[in-house]
Amino acid sequence: MLQFKEEIKHTSATINGADSGRVRVDDKMIINGHADVNQLVPFKYKWAWDKYLAACANHWMPQEVQMSRDIALWKDQKGLTEDERRIIKRNLGFFTTADSLAANNIVLGTYRHITAPECRQYMLRQAFEEAIHTHSYQYIVESIGLDEGEIFNMYNEVPSVRDKDQFLMPFINILADPLFKTGTQENDQKLLRSLIVFAAIMEGTFFYVGFSQILAMGRQNKMVGAAEQYQYILRDESMHCNFGIDMANQIKIENPDLWTVAFQQEIVDLIRRGVELECAYADDTMPRGVLGLNAPIFKDYVKYIGNRRLVQLGLPQQYQGVENPFPWMSEMMDLKKEKNFFETRVTEYQTGGALSWE
Ligand SMILES: [Fe+2]
Ligand SMILES: [Fe+2]
Repeated sequence: MLQFKEEIKHTSATINGADSGRVRVDDKMIINGHADVNQLVPFKYKWAWDKYLAACANHWMPQEVQMSRDIALWKDQKGLTEDERRIIKRNLGFFTTADSLAANNIVLGTYRHITAPECRQYMLRQAFEEAIHTHSYQYIVESIGLDEGEIFNMYNEVPSVRDKDQFLMPFINILADPLFKTGTQENDQKLLRSLIVFAAIMEGTFFYVGFSQILAMGRQNKMVGAAEQYQYILRDESMHCNFGIDMANQIKIENPDLWTVAFQQEIVDLIRRGVELECAYADDTMPRGVLGLNAPIFKDYVKYIGNRRLVQLGLPQQYQGVENPFPWMSEMMDLKKEKNFFETRVTEYQTGGALSWE
């Protein structure tokens, strides 16, 4: 309740901060802006609006995906090896709670500190997508009949999952603190740091071993329903990650005093720590080679991703000589939703126009 009052206060402060005249594009800022946050147009950040439109066009729901082949495979004692089952369970153990964490981070943390309504519009869509993702993981757990207590508690009980979540918590808590406000260099850096941690490390690194493991399974015709859902989630998440990084880069442009040498070094160190945690997760989820793949290949992939995030932020790469071992992952991210990569069915989506009011 207290937090809600604070949010209202913050919003009205922003409104009151605006001149009584019409909104001018030049008054808009990603943080600490003075333009009325209730007026979407005139647009300043067209890229954010375009991402909102693209995200809406990609709309999907978990229950549209057939799970019967996954159920049959899971129930068949010889259908999957113990190592493959471990991967699936660890994966769901991380993701069932990770996306709730992502949703809470947006709704209770980041959203109120962002003063560009185009960005807020995308974040509203993003928050709903996180709900869909949580729904999707729950749907997979329920469909194949996993022990819900075991899976949903992994984020407390399995160190390689818990360590990733605990790394993130302080960055979320800063923004969710009702007393936290932007407007000083120190606090603006805190916001920027949390934004980057979330976009580049949580959504941009911590998801990638899990995604590539399940998608590799799908490519071998195993757990194709789960893999199809992961494919849609991957597409959403790659947009979340890019949006967050675009927002961070725009904040840097508008507030160059925040991007000090010391701050840059701190971000590099955080990304290196994120890569370490994701590599530990790769080791834990696949202690032996499985699917013709092994942990070292996934660790190369994590380092390749880490380099990519650093470059996106204008920072130096940290891992020399690593190539992308999974070029097919980019293909999946770009896939048009009408085509199903695993060819379990042909999907025909209709967003809007599908309802009949007779
Ligand atoms: Fe998500
Ligand atoms: Fe996300």
